[in-house]
Amino acid sequence: MANSKDFDTRYELREFPFANGADGEPTPESLAALDAIGFGFHESTPKPEARKRKVNELIADEAVLLGAYVRKPQPGSVDETWPAGTFSWFPKALSWGDGTSINTQAISDVTVRPTERRRGILRRMMTQALERGVADGYAIAALTASEGTIYRRFGFGSAIRERNVVVKRAKALPFLAPTSGIVSVVTPEYLVDGVARQVFDRFDERSIGSMVRNTGSWPLVLGTLGRDGEPAKDTRAAVHRPADGEEVDGYVTWRMVEQPGGQTGIEIIDLVYATDSAYLSLWEFLLSIDLNDVVKYNRARLDDPIVSALGDNRAYDIEHEEDHVWLRVLDLPAVLASRPFAVDGSLTIAVTDALGYAAGTFRLEVTGGRGTATKLSDETDAAGADLALDVADLGSLLLGAVSPVSLAAAGVLQAADPAAPLLLRSMLQTPRAPHGITFF
Ligand SMILES: CC(C)(COP(=O)(O)OP(=O)(O)OC[C@H]1O[C@@H](n2cnc3c(N)ncnc32)[C@H](O)[C@@H]1OP(=O)(O)O)[C@@H](O)C(=O)NCCC(=O)NCCS
Repeated sequence: MANSKDFDTRYELREFPFANGADGEPTPESLAALDAIGFGFHESTPKPEARKRKVNELIADEAVLLGAYVRKPQPGSVDETWPAGTFSWFPKALSWGDGTSINTQAISDVTVRPTERRRGILRRMMTQALERGVADGYAIAALTASEGTIYRRFGFGSAIRERNVVVKRAKALPFLAPTSGIVSVVTPEYLVDGVARQVFDRFDERSIGSMVRNTGSWPLVLGTLGRDGEPAKDTRAAVHRPADGEEVDGYVTWRMVEQPGGQTGIEIIDLVYATDSAYLSLWEFLLSIDLNDVVKYNRARLDDPIVSALGDNRAYDIEHEEDHVWLRVLDLPAVLASRPFAVDGSLTIAVTDALGYAAGTFRLEVTGGRGTATKLSDETDAAGADLALDVADLGSLLLGAVSPVSLAAAGVLQAADPAAPLLLRSMLQTPRAPHGITFF
């Protein structure tokens, strides 16, 4: 759509929290938005009780819906009630892996009806949402993307990558080092009563890049609800306890799946661990299950310790690698003050930002592992700075998974002195690869 006037003639933007009415039932506008989102993501139409549950999950997550509504819908079209563009956000903590976190404006449910695409709905919704995010005090926005080329133009950078891996049983065991602790098979219901959340909280605290889960994710990963709204009949579960303790420090849920070529596979649904020992033991357990050829995991981290534990490292195949969480810095000084640093140092950083929020030249001083960023100028003084980059690439660097040295080699980060990206890499270094197991 050529201009803003055309957009406003055709669409009206409405923003509201998902809500129940005075009768305790979801409001019609909440249900219509839910249906539009489901259509956008090719989901089957849920039963009435599932729609109600989903709205209540979104209420629990404090989700706000931004919808683009067609002002003059065609008779009989869903546009009469559904928004043609959907967009939501909610608060979600992002862990720095040292027990601290930053609150993100977590963006989700981005869909535009095929009949209305490429008329600027996404651009308008994103612009309005980020403006609102800044007004509400968010220093950073986050999302997970269905395609890799949509969000950079809005200042988001891919900050974490993850892998789909397949481990072949025949070559995997024994592990090179002994595992410890006790693995027990449990029912998925055993995990529901606090056990899973307690383990997740410990995982989240130690894992830089981990994000708090949506309310609606829990029943799915624990198998208490399948996609059809009924309890999943195929989900199995096990827990790990340390040899000297009773508290569960890891759990896994999985299902059996047919593999190409008549093979049988275990597909890990959820694998959460508060210790390295729990992670290793649960993998060993899965690889020891008979009547099965491979174990598949679609959330593997890039520094997966299993590779170094396997009896034959060729048991480990990477099937696919993809971006996971994308980050968008809105308030640069606030984000850098929140993050812990591995090494002290100071650097001048010039940032471009088409939407303006993080544009300027900043001095980052890190002392005792804590940083202070001071704005030197509203201008992006690339020539006078140690490093110059776009806000999207700053988002990529932020967790420490993407190296400034790689970005310099890729030509998207400029540094006259090669020592500057090396110093920033050391400053941003993390004890283990940034990793998250939360999709939203
Ligand atoms: C992706 C989607 C949301 C885009 O919505 P839209 O209203 O057509 O996008 P806009 O017209 O506002 O386009 C905004 C910009 O993004 C670009 N863009 C839009 N969709 C894109 C895509 N799939 N890939 C790459 N670029 C895309 C446009 O070219 C435009 O660029 P510009 O403003 O720099 O010129 C829409 O096609 C959709 O609903 N797809 C299916 C669901 C989906 O993938 N959702 C994303 C979930 S993370």
